[in-house]
Amino acid sequence: MELDGKVALVTGAGPNIGGEIARRLALAGAVVACNDLGPQAAQATVSSIEEAGGKALAVPGDISDPASVVDFVGQVVGSQERIDVLVNNAAITIPKGLLDCSYEEWCKVTDVALNGTFLVSQAVARSMVQRGEGGSIVNIASTSGHRGRRNAVAYCTAKAGILNLTRAMACDLAPHGIRVNSVSPTKTGASVGGLQPTGARDTREIPLGRLGRPQDQARAVLFLVSDAASFITGEDLRVDGGSLATWGTRSQTPDLAASARQEA
Ligand SMILES: NC(=O)c1ccc[n+]([C@@H]2O[C@H](COP(=O)([O-])OP(=O)(O)OC[C@H]3O[C@@H](n4cnc5c(N)ncnc54)[C@H](O)[C@@H]3O)[C@@H](O)[C@H]2O)c1
Repeated sequence: MELDGKVALVTGAGPNIGGEIARRLALAGAVVACNDLGPQAAQATVSSIEEAGGKALAVPGDISDPASVVDFVGQVVGSQERIDVLVNNAAITIPKGLLDCSYEEWCKVTDVALNGTFLVSQAVARSMVQRGEGGSIVNIASTSGHRGRRNAVAYCTAKAGILNLTRAMACDLAPHGIRVNSVSPTKTGASVGGLQPTGARDTREIPLGRLGRPQDQARAVLFLVSDAASFITGEDLRVDGGSLATWGTRSQTPDLAASARQEA
């Protein structure tokens, strides 16, 4: 299989996108270290991988806490002797816009969604460089990193940061044979943190007319970490049903015609 003999670390490997990425990498032959803030969420994904005949270990921890990152990355390297693949998937959001987002809320979101990605990437990349056999990193960005939307000021900013962090990391790590790319999902399953359930999500701005499925994102990640993508680095792969090919988010746009009718 494509990833036989490889060790992968997936952050935020909870029930939605991260768990599916972990399962897909395990199906491709990797031993998958499943990180999550919640030990039970990490363990549940490990159990689902083992039930399917794959190999996995749970490494709970907080990606926004430097000591925790050193600890759980050290656990993986200590027990598996290597990390070949890193998927920075964990993120949080707080649904607030510029006018009502407190500084503490801004810091909380960017600490996890952006700074956490930096911390884990640095720890893992250093171990990859030390081993000298290259590797592959995929950062999970978002269509929200490509354009603004209401009530997500910290999240949109963090995800835009992820896109350029990916390019800068790709430049730094290319001499070491480490490729770095990102995947930009659009609405996939429930929203981040489960704030909006699948059934409540508007698909009007998605040209393919449906929500993303965690498998859509997981397949894209597998492609990017596989040898099929061996000449691809610093790239963002949009897995968004065409969302970013359109003018913008219709559901975010006030219905001006309806307002005008009401006013008349
Ligand atoms: N779901 C979507 O519609 C959607 C759309 C675009 C992008 N994304 C991106 O995809 C990724 C996964 O999203 P999801 O919907 O599966 O989110 P989710 O909230 O279902 O899962 C995220 C996981 O990260 C974990 N986590 C949170 N803070 C952490 C921390 N400090 N340390 C370690 N783990 C932590 C959570 O416990 C959770 O299990 C995120 O990067 C998100 O921004 C999601």
